[in-house]
Amino acid sequence: MADPFYITTAIAYPNGKPHIGHAYEAIAADVIARFQRAEGCDVRFQTGTDEHGLKMAQKAREMGITPRELCDEMSSHFRAMCDALHISYDVFQRTTDPKHYAASQELWRRMVAKDDLYLDRYEGWYSVRDEAFYDESELIAGEGTEKLSPQGTPVEWTVEESWFFRLSKYQEPLLAYFAANPEFIQPESRRNEVIRFVEGGLRDLSVSRTSFDWGVPVPDAPGHVMYVWVDALTNYLTGLGFPEKTPEMDKWWPANIHLIGKDIVRFHTIYWPAFLMSADLALPKQVFGHGFLLHRGEKMSKSLGNVVDPLELAERFGVDSLRYFLMREVSFGNDGSYSADAIVTRCNAELANSFGNLAQRVLSLIFKNLGGVLPGREAYSENDDADLMAKRAAFGDVIRPYFEDLNFSGGLDAWMLLVFACNQYVDEQAPWALKKTNPERMNAVLANLFQCIRDLAITIRPVIPASADILLDQMGIPANDRDFAALRDDAWYERLRASGFILAQPVGVFPRLDLPAEGTAL
Ligand code: MSP
Repeated sequence: MADPFYITTAIAYPNGKPHIGHAYEAIAADVIARFQRAEGCDVRFQTGTDEHGLKMAQKAREMGITPRELCDEMSSHFRAMCDALHISYDVFQRTTDPKHYAASQELWRRMVAKDDLYLDRYEGWYSVRDEAFYDESELIAGEGTEKLSPQGTPVEWTVEESWFFRLSKYQEPLLAYFAANPEFIQPESRRNEVIRFVEGGLRDLSVSRTSFDWGVPVPDAPGHVMYVWVDALTNYLTGLGFPEKTPEMDKWWPANIHLIGKDIVRFHTIYWPAFLMSADLALPKQVFGHGFLLHRGEKMSKSLGNVVDPLELAERFGVDSLRYFLMREVSFGNDGSYSADAIVTRCNAELANSFGNLAQRVLSLIFKNLGGVLPGREAYSENDDADLMAKRAAFGDVIRPYFEDLNFSGGLDAWMLLVFACNQYVDEQAPWALKKTNPERMNAVLANLFQCIRDLAITIRPVIPASADILLDQMGIPANDRDFAALRDDAWYERLRASGFILAQPVGVFPRLDLPAEGTAL
């Protein structure tokens, strides 16, 4: 039976429309999900929206609508973004779903049963933007006497009655867990930060609020709603049907990976595992904190006017150009920068000129010179072909470890090496000139290249699924022969020839992109 693989993204606050940072996370998670499916795993992929809390309530008040109206409207934009960017999610979990209330309340009850919750008074700093409590010692100086959170967001002094979670009790169990599971927090630099933070001592955490009511009601405590992070994190269980004993819970929990941004690592690697330990539930296998996407090296913000709608980018340059660029340009885990020029330059050089041209040249020659009939390889030349074909034979095993390690840019680098090798081979063998002089050799050269192009398309399919499928469709590769296992199948080419497949006139898959006009917001 195929191994189950459960992957989640963070669930975004739908207090506005999605921006490119949200798109980046969804695309990276989708590449992982598609890669694991291509590897033969049974994948479940969950995303969604985080709809409670003060930030949402305040935004709705500002707009003169109810929080629920705000959530319904904005959550639909996040879902539409996922659909437009070909994000292959299985579950889109909203936290205003009644099922989610049941899941969060059950988690709460389990924490009560463990005597991990007590009533007290919270007095301290709170950032609405981050929906986070901060210790005085963590604050940084703003303008004048103003204090800011470590993320640079405003904080306010808050005093209210609150339930507290005994986080301090979990300091040692967490450290023991980190030590026993070095893969749990990735990348390594974030793991070290978290360990240092926990070693510094954990204070109990305020986990309910009484000054507003936009949240999941705390069981048996009228007037209290849960701190938004308690319910938000629970979404990863809600989608599996928790607290019911569902087959989904059995099959998919614990998650293989929670993919999140570096700003929310603390919530996922300290609070969430502590809640799960308290509730006697297994801990996720990995939390990966990716870097931030910057616009021309600057943080995106409404005031700088550099917040770009990912759908505009996708419409302008194509979904797959955007997906390819983001996975190729940013070394995953680190911060990265994007700009329209960088997208155009990268995609034109690599997708349009290098790979697109290669495919178009080779398929056109087969169409024109051979009437679309796939050529035989009788005139294979050990001298001229062995090198390229050896690279092709090893290719799947070269690429897969990069994707397994979430090193997308490294994987695409390695992918480009075979594209380059093919282009060099075409130039050296000049199959167009062989038609008259040595048609048998032309056949072998085109057959070799056809095979390389098919493998290149299969390996890049998790990153640019739509384009890869258009190319593979043209090449007559059956839809169920596009997984990584197909790379190990030596008989496919002869099978395809024997099937009588005739290549139609090929159409280019990777158009050349134009730079946007000066002064456009992209
Ligand atoms: N609602 C919480 C997450 C709860 S998960 C149980 C939240 N929402 S968010 O809308 O602020 O962010 C959603 C995700 O997008 C987070 O993983 C965050 O790190 C990521 N990003 C937000 N801005 C980003 C960039 N500029 N670049 C890359 N990722 C970014 O946090």
